[in-house]
Amino acid sequence: MTDQAPAPYAGPERVLSGVQPTGDLHLGNYLGALVKFGRLQHEIETFIFVADMHAITEWQDPAKLKSQVREIAAAYLATGLDPKVATIFAQSAVPEHAELAWVFNCVARLGWLDRMTQFKDKAGKHKERSSVGLYTYPVLQAADILVYKATKVPVGEDQRQHLELTRDIAQKFNHDFDAPNFFPLPDALTQGPGARVMSLRDGSAKMSKSDPSDQSRINLTDDADAIAQKVRKARTDPDPLPETVEGLEGRAEAKNLVAIYAALAGRTEAQVLGEFAGQGFGAFKPKLADLAVSVLGPIGGEMRRLLADPAEIDRILGAGAEKARALAAPTVAEVRKLVGFWAG
Ligand code: TRP
Repeated sequence: MTDQAPAPYAGPERVLSGVQPTGDLHLGNYLGALVKFGRLQHEIETFIFVADMHAITEWQDPAKLKSQVREIAAAYLATGLDPKVATIFAQSAVPEHAELAWVFNCVARLGWLDRMTQFKDKAGKHKERSSVGLYTYPVLQAADILVYKATKVPVGEDQRQHLELTRDIAQKFNHDFDAPNFFPLPDALTQGPGARVMSLRDGSAKMSKSDPSDQSRINLTDDADAIAQKVRKARTDPDPLPETVEGLEGRAEAKNLVAIYAALAGRTEAQVLGEFAGQGFGAFKPKLADLAVSVLGPIGGEMRRLLADPAEIDRILGAGAEKARALAAPTVAEVRKLVGFWAG
């Protein structure tokens, strides 16, 4: 500790986040991420991308990857991101991400990456058969964020460790290249309603696109019948809804459905219980199904409309990539100078 407080980072606030184009987007992505993106774009300069370079850390069918990138872009647009307000693009269209990631590979320490729990979870028992890219995945993520000098990163709770690594990389780069405050130390934004949407089949597991059971999640492209059927079949318990939020303790599935209702309705869990206390799930589930259909139905419809015109999505992604590069290129040019790369 020095007694002199370091000068704070002086650059502008900037939001950046991304979603991998692997598997269908679901209610958890919507409430935990997409809704927040739409809101933040009106408050702070916002960059939202499709993480196709991260996707190939595990093998992807090339044709499918291409269509999934457009699908995520369609979901961004259908849930309220406005390409005139936010910058929306595909990660692979901005080569500066990869260029900065290489420098960061040389800044990050093996010991730091060895602690990453997402790698351990994804690699499973056969670590030696994982791609090297999967191991350095969080380093590329740090480059995604810092190439725009982003300061706020809306992500799920499971990404907190990657954000801490990003801060460590930023700090070490600033120190090693004698460039105080060159990179900001970005904050994770993990709060808010819907921050943790759980599986409809198991209240202790996150709603996830990799869950083999499609019944465990409501996909953004599910039609009204599928949504209603999944809510009806969601796991619950036989007790009526309690008067207070504390009364939901130890009732993970009940808590999850109340939290989903609250997030979709833009109300607090206490307000939802104020309306439904004493009622059983036989009464609550149809109300939740109606609400979910009324919110998600139009989003699925808009996604289908957008996906019918892939050229228009590509045009939006192309324009976004151009805007993104205009900001990323000067950062990389400065990094090249700081590191001492050949400049001709
Ligand atoms: N790792 C993130 C996830 O799985 C996706 C991601 C990649 C990301 N790069 C990012 C999120 C940069 C925020 C910022 O959810």
